[in-house]
Amino acid sequence: MTTKENILLLLENRKGEYISGEQLASQLGLSRTAVWKAVSGLKEDGFEIESAGRLGYRLPADSDMLSAAAVESRLKNHVFGINIVHETGSTNDDAKALAEKGAPEFTVIAAHRQTRGKGRLGRKFYSPQGTGIYFSIILRPDIPITESLYITTAAAAATARAIEDVTGRNAGIKWVNDIFADGKKVCGILTEASIDMETGRMQYAVLGIGVNVRSPEGGFPDDIKNVAGYLCTPEDYVPGTRSRLLAAILDNFYDYYRQLSMKTFFDEYVSRSILIGKEVTVLHPDHPYTAIVKGIDENCRLLISADGKDAVLDSGEVSVKLI
Ligand code: BTN
Repeated sequence: MTTKENILLLLENRKGEYISGEQLASQLGLSRTAVWKAVSGLKEDGFEIESAGRLGYRLPADSDMLSAAAVESRLKNHVFGINIVHETGSTNDDAKALAEKGAPEFTVIAAHRQTRGKGRLGRKFYSPQGTGIYFSIILRPDIPITESLYITTAAAAATARAIEDVTGRNAGIKWVNDIFADGKKVCGILTEASIDMETGRMQYAVLGIGVNVRSPEGGFPDDIKNVAGYLCTPEDYVPGTRSRLLAAILDNFYDYYRQLSMKTFFDEYVSRSILIGKEVTVLHPDHPYTAIVKGIDENCRLLISADGKDAVLDSGEVSVKLI
């Protein structure tokens, strides 16, 4: 961890309390000038650190800044390398660039805001400052391409469970990888992969997850306002929820990912489906049609019945809309 991250971790662990510059310096084996410089850098990065002469420095008890230190201090699985940037185009693009340069598995890039957040099927993902969590994980799975969908479905199950544990909201999964709470989409997942054409295996995958945690100032843009939702109202938002949620998603995902081929996520994934038993429109590019969802098979494909005939839908081919 860098000096800035070490200082943040100490302040995070005693949020609301002052820690003197001298104490920080001696705990970290630094000079007081080095501490002062690191704190100034953190303030420039937007952290609301308060300074009070000889009392030292503190993070306000209600500080809500997403920081690597705050996330790390809450993680159970210490395998992730967490990097948090203030602003970026898309954390998926950043993670892909890092993966190309050889960054290790479990490198995480999170951003306070994205200016070109990407969704599935060429859509945008609205990512305003401070209200959501937007992050990508570099993965280097040794799995056949046929199992690559399980990265996304495991992530959906992991995220839904984390949402419920951290915020208490019921989280359902709309096949294949959207998470809904009370009829509104609160999370989207976009997995991108690079394939080695010679071996037919995956060089790396980038798993991108965006969660709308708080209501954005001024609401969602017109084009998504009927579909998009958030997890916490301003009244019930507890500071630190975003860090806790990010840590919980990473931990849950890691547990599923390390035994991906055994599909330990599957029962959770199916039990959270909001489509089973519902009428949907299958958004076939040439001829959309109505169907009833019967279930989800062991390959995470959707089992439907349309015009009295049973059919199996593959996520790569079509998406569905609830009627
Ligand atoms: C969707 O809803 O279609 C998928 C949305 C995925 C959004 C996340 S936010 C972090 C990562 N970076 C991106 O540009 N997209 C993903």
